[in-house]
Amino acid sequence: MGITTHRKVMSNLKYRVIFARMDEIFGKAGAVLDEIKAATAGNADEAEQFRIRYLGSKGVIKELFGFMGQLPNEKKRAYGQLMNTIKAAAEQKLEEFRQAFAQKSRGEGRPSDLTAPAYLYPMGTRHPLSIIRNKVIEIFSRVGFQVAEGPEIEDDWHNFTALNMPEDHPARDMQDTFFLTTDKKWLLRTHTSSVQIRVMEQRQPPMKFIFPGRVYRNETITARAHCTFHQVEGLYIDKDVSFADLKQTMLYFAQEMFGRYVEVRFRPSFFPFTEPSAEVDISCFVCGGSGCAVCKQSGWVEIGGCGMVDPAVLENCRIDYEKYTGYAFGMGIERIAMLKYQINDLRLFFQNDVRFLRQFRGAL
Ligand code: DAH
Repeated sequence: MGITTHRKVMSNLKYRVIFARMDEIFGKAGAVLDEIKAATAGNADEAEQFRIRYLGSKGVIKELFGFMGQLPNEKKRAYGQLMNTIKAAAEQKLEEFRQAFAQKSRGEGRPSDLTAPAYLYPMGTRHPLSIIRNKVIEIFSRVGFQVAEGPEIEDDWHNFTALNMPEDHPARDMQDTFFLTTDKKWLLRTHTSSVQIRVMEQRQPPMKFIFPGRVYRNETITARAHCTFHQVEGLYIDKDVSFADLKQTMLYFAQEMFGRYVEVRFRPSFFPFTEPSAEVDISCFVCGGSGCAVCKQSGWVEIGGCGMVDPAVLENCRIDYEKYTGYAFGMGIERIAMLKYQINDLRLFFQNDVRFLRQFRGAL
């Protein structure tokens, strides 16, 4: 083999190597372009990964540019154009991703069309007992009553003894008590009257309070009775408080709660902690007194008990009964709600069936 032949062979070989490498480089670049065109991103993170992979300082496109030097001069121009195409494709793709995710996060935060109707969220409703309790508080606070609360776990003193119901007093049997200890010292309060004692022990008159809260009685659950229910208690102690004040306050409450044409009636009754005591009826606001199912044809419905605070109770709380007098009253919140909304089964308040509760949307 002469020297010329050898050179020719060598140079052919060199070209063949170069051509093989050239095909490889162009092939690789073509594959990257296909990859970029097909790329997808599911979120902003994936878009960023795309940017790093293709457009980053150590990315695929940078690497492809690096092959330029390995190409024969006449191919450099074509390769340069291909590289520009690839880079432009990657940049365009990235821009698409950015717009998609920017739009999405904007859409999540606030509506892009501010004139579009608002999203409708399902609104909750207040429980009828909360509505009534709030209304009671509002009515009494307008005439100077403050709100206080006491514990549901009570001792014998506050629930019974201090309320003029010493041990073995028959009135204790009227309220079937859940006792918490065998010595019967601790119990679940049977009425909110216990809060009267707690407040009177801590303060001196004048005092004008209502005490809303839950009470417990060991009763069989029926449409008319439950082992737990709610009461609101009232207490006003000052100089010269009279039964006339009590009557006027009850009338005011009844008219605010049930309507301005409602009348009140006081029936003599007995409670150990008040003397005199009365039960309060209101004229039936459904039939106006002529007789209907709500008032059981009597024209009157009972709403609670009341009376002048017994001096013995004032004395138990170290309040000077020579100087001060006061009245107290107690009403069932369920009872008021049942009358006002004409609900005939007490159990509905505790079942929390949304079909029942939803009916009180916007109720007052
Ligand atoms: N505590 C009584 C009950 O639960 C209701 C009551 C009656 C409360 C007369 C009073 C009152 O404050 O004066 O049945």
